[in-house]
Amino acid sequence: AAQMKDEDKLYKREGILYSSILSPPETLDKLQELEAREDDLILVAYPKCGFNWMLSVLSKILNASTGKNEIQLERLPLVEFLPPDVQEKLAEMPPRRLLGTHLHPNNIPPSFFTKKPKILVVFRNPKDTLVSYYHFMNKNPVLPNAGPWDKFFSDFMAGEVAWGSYFDHALAWEKRLDDPNVMIVTYEELKQNLSEGVKNISGFFSLPLTDEQVSSIAGESTFSAMLENSQKSHGNTGSIFFRKGEVGDWKNHFSDAQSKQMDELFQAKLAGTNLGARLKY
Ligand code: A3P
Repeated sequence: AAQMKDEDKLYKREGILYSSILSPPETLDKLQELEAREDDLILVAYPKCGFNWMLSVLSKILNASTGKNEIQLERLPLVEFLPPDVQEKLAEMPPRRLLGTHLHPNNIPPSFFTKKPKILVVFRNPKDTLVSYYHFMNKNPVLPNAGPWDKFFSDFMAGEVAWGSYFDHALAWEKRLDDPNVMIVTYEELKQNLSEGVKNISGFFSLPLTDEQVSSIAGESTFSAMLENSQKSHGNTGSIFFRKGEVGDWKNHFSDAQSKQMDELFQAKLAGTNLGARLKY
């Protein structure tokens, strides 16, 4: 990845940018055949909305509730990163599988909807998501450098970033909000009350927990606890998935004009929707 030129790191497929290295066309083609199971745990998030946070929470819930300790968390990437031969091996994985993706609902494996596994969707307010994405691109060798802030701002607004438009994703999931197999949590709500989030998620996936288990998982899943744990296990400054972990960092990045521009787009796309009302920033 380090040798690849920035302009070659992303390619476009049906109007959406993807990583050339991790999600080449053959991987995305093959993904259409992935067979979901009804008892799979599916985790979906637009990039930088808190995917790795919820992946950790979900695997802790699964381990605590089943009394097993099998989930190799760090090794569980997004399904769109699995080469075709690895995708085939998913069929041999014992239940309950934990599968993740950043893909738009139109592009996730169709069986994710027909087999009706439970799908947990994580969203975050678009301003903080943009800021987080900007910093991530500058740290992740697989993605091109974000370029100057103003350029990245317009790329994000136009959906010209890997995995496509934040707003298209939000609108598409908003339409599925009442689907009994879909639960949406927001970064902001989780920051406000993580125990409540853990409890709701465990109930949604029918993975019962005691009150003690709920509070210990919440305690182990705060930003500082997870960062410390990652530093301990990796012996470095932690993974690139930890940065600030706060709500409202956009105020340190957006100009007034940019904030207004985002508000207008948000208003045009998501105002009046249930999801929109939950993405306060
Ligand atoms: P910031 O860049 O704003 O700090 P993803 O996992 O979807 O890539 O999202 C990454 C974002 O989630 C980063 O946001 C990261 O710091 C934040 N994050 C990671 N672990 C977290 C935690 N335990 N609590 C709150 N935020 C967390």
